[in-house]
Amino acid sequence: MNNITFVMIKPDAVEKNAVYAIMRYFYDNGISVCCFDVQQATSERVTLHYGEHFERLGQDFANRMLELFVGKTVIPIVLTGEEGIIAKVRGIVGVTEPVKAAKGTIRGDLGDGDSFERSERENRVLRNLIHASDTPEAVAREAHIWLPGYPIQ
Ligand code: GTP
Ligand code: MG
Repeated sequence: MNNITFVMIKPDAVEKNAVYAIMRYFYDNGISVCCFDVQQATSERVTLHYGEHFERLGQDFANRMLELFVGKTVIPIVLTGEEGIIAKVRGIVGVTEPVKAAKGTIRGDLGDGDSFERSERENRVLRNLIHASDTPEAVAREAHIWLPGYPIQ
């Protein structure tokens, strides 16, 4: 369990054809794919995944998140590598806002400098390309939502 993590390529990344470019960051760091799926996100799965954020950030945020995701293509992936992969992958992905993410990270290089400020102005959620789990519990919970057939204890 210490050597796997979960990520999900979000619809904004699929739409801008960045899937191959994103996956290169993982392969170049010795991280490989255990399991993945290409699927259309449902409101049930998005709500299960982001439920806590919906409570914290309110109905408008929930609606915008559903707008970004529902019916759009997402690619949930279980990745494997060395111990510590959860933090390592979060580092490779970069911080939440692309405008603040370091160069050399996925969000910093490919995220078009998006910010909470710009997304608020445009009445949409942030476009940050990819989600990465932050704890072993989140890996199990999120993989179970998006890849329910995949066995994770
Ligand atoms: P994920 O990998 O998507 O989980 O991003 P993260 O772990 O870097 O960020 P976090 O889990 O805190 O937030 C999840 C998502 O909620 C982000 O990708 C944003 O789209 C959104 N979000 C989080 N915090 C805020 C906030 O303060 N304001 C707004 N507008 N959106 C937020
Ligand atoms: Mg998160």
